[in-house]
Amino acid sequence: MPQRTLVLLKPDATRRGLIGEIISRIERKAGWTLAAMELRTLDTATLERHYGEHLGKPFYEPLMEFMASGPVVALIVQGESVIEGVRALAGKTNPLEAGPGTIRGDFATITRENLIHASDSEESAEREIAIFFPKS
Ligand code: CMP
Repeated sequence: MPQRTLVLLKPDATRRGLIGEIISRIERKAGWTLAAMELRTLDTATLERHYGEHLGKPFYEPLMEFMASGPVVALIVQGESVIEGVRALAGKTNPLEAGPGTIRGDFATITRENLIHASDSEESAEREIAIFFPKS
């Protein structure tokens, strides 16, 4: 089923020069295309909307600080089963549990700085796309 998903390449990906590597992995999937892409440093209001469900959790404040620490790349990726598919490419949230061949398994070591965010459902995808790309 064709879908759209919101992907963020986090500030660690930008700092470490991994943007090209990660986008390349996404781009090579048959039938997936990039529908929007932007490099920007996120403000508090945007982060509060995006991570509102995690408010009050112990990792919330350090996560907000990390996510504002440098530019991120926001993308809309579209194509067949792209929501589940990008999450499979990303690997588990904790990079130590993420398999080899996944983005987090290959390049990350700690849970906060896990390089990539990808929407987890169609509802999240539409909500998150509206935050980052309100005109689409
Ligand atoms: P993300 O997919 O962006 O969704 C929430 C983010 O919070 C997650 O990736 C991690 O960056 C971070 N996160 C989730 N759980 C933890 C945790 N236990 N400790 C630190 N950071 C976390």
